[in-house]
Amino acid sequence: MAVLSVEAIRALFPSMQRTHNGLPVAYLDGPGGTQVPASVADAMRDYLLHHNANTHWAYPTSEETDAMLASARAALGDFLGAAPDEVAFGANMTTLTFHLSRALARAWQPGDEVIVTELDHHANVDPWRQVARDAGLVVRTVPFDVTTGELQWAALEAAFTSRTRLLAIGAASNALGTISDVTAAARLAHASGALCYVDAVHFAAHELVDVRAIDCDILVCSPYKFYGPHVGTAFVRRELLARLDVPKLAPAGNEGGERVETGTLSHEAMVGAGAAVDFLASLAPGATSRRAALAETFAALHARGLVQVTRLWDSLRAIPGVTVYGPPPTRPRTSTLSFVLRGHTSTELARHLVSRGLFASNGDFYAQTVIERLGHADDGLLRIGCSAYTTDEEIERVIAAVQALAA
Ligand SMILES: Cc1ncc(COP(=O)(O)O)c(C=O)c1O
Repeated sequence: MAVLSVEAIRALFPSMQRTHNGLPVAYLDGPGGTQVPASVADAMRDYLLHHNANTHWAYPTSEETDAMLASARAALGDFLGAAPDEVAFGANMTTLTFHLSRALARAWQPGDEVIVTELDHHANVDPWRQVARDAGLVVRTVPFDVTTGELQWAALEAAFTSRTRLLAIGAASNALGTISDVTAAARLAHASGALCYVDAVHFAAHELVDVRAIDCDILVCSPYKFYGPHVGTAFVRRELLARLDVPKLAPAGNEGGERVETGTLSHEAMVGAGAAVDFLASLAPGATSRRAALAETFAALHARGLVQVTRLWDSLRAIPGVTVYGPPPTRPRTSTLSFVLRGHTSTELARHLVSRGLFASNGDFYAQTVIERLGHADDGLLRIGCSAYTTDEEIERVIAAVQALAA
């Protein structure tokens, strides 16, 4: 069965009706956060207006809350290829990473080592650096190649020692779109007795996550990057979850993902995250299961994104004064592309695009080290992100706008 057309997908998003300067708005900041379909907002509204309660009490709205949160865990389990009891929620990926790093480090000794990469968003770097400072750990940093936008694999292999306890690695760069082989990275980590912590925040919006195939120990992502509300979620491998020494309150639950959750979370956002998974599955209506539908949806989104990023790559590079960064479309990458235009700051470029109804973000995107290494610490890059609702015509509008500014 076919996956819905981009026009049919756009009809599910009320925000697609918005105009700016009399032009339809093109939302090109998926890597910063995607738009939300009506079904996700409806699910959150339904929860808040009809089922709102705290968990684990013996009255109907509380029981309904428990059931709805269990459904959300099952949906995220299908999304990640995990069991529902391995799914935890948190405020966002950053908060989950601060929390989980602190828990993991309780089992480590001064002098133990963690590996981070230059290509990562700082949410998968700074929590490790800070816990290292607190616990006396050594941090090793794997560089990336500025010409290819890819991790230096030999340096990654060389970073492991007998003291390595964990590799923190991103599945895809939110600045350059580079996809890193986290399956091979997890194999390397396990071969030296270390854990593998994967930041899939950018990756999960573009490719089907399969935590068993990757064989990682923890994987984190953020539903607001894949058509859901502002919330974070983590897969923690069951055996690891059971032995994690998590900072927690004595009376708090220890079952499944609740073991690493703190306080009362945003139930409506958890429900909305589950609805976002159902939205993605609904794009492939003929599939036999939710997981099968997600696989079809992501295969189609990958194919559409590849066409768009290839067009952007070829056309922007042909404009005098434009420098495009990251791997070419023939290498593993997402449909996120960043560039600069000589003689214009990235903010000027962003404002020029806005004047034509094109909403895109600029700066360092918290992938600060990537931007520094590329020599743009002062001003950053302009980033175009293609999402499920991005049309080929919007991509042509971006190219025409940059051509006009460069002329
Ligand atoms: C690759 C990547 N990792 C981590 C984060 C941080 O996620 P959160 O905002 O959920 O803390 C982001 C956010 O942009 C990201 O793109």
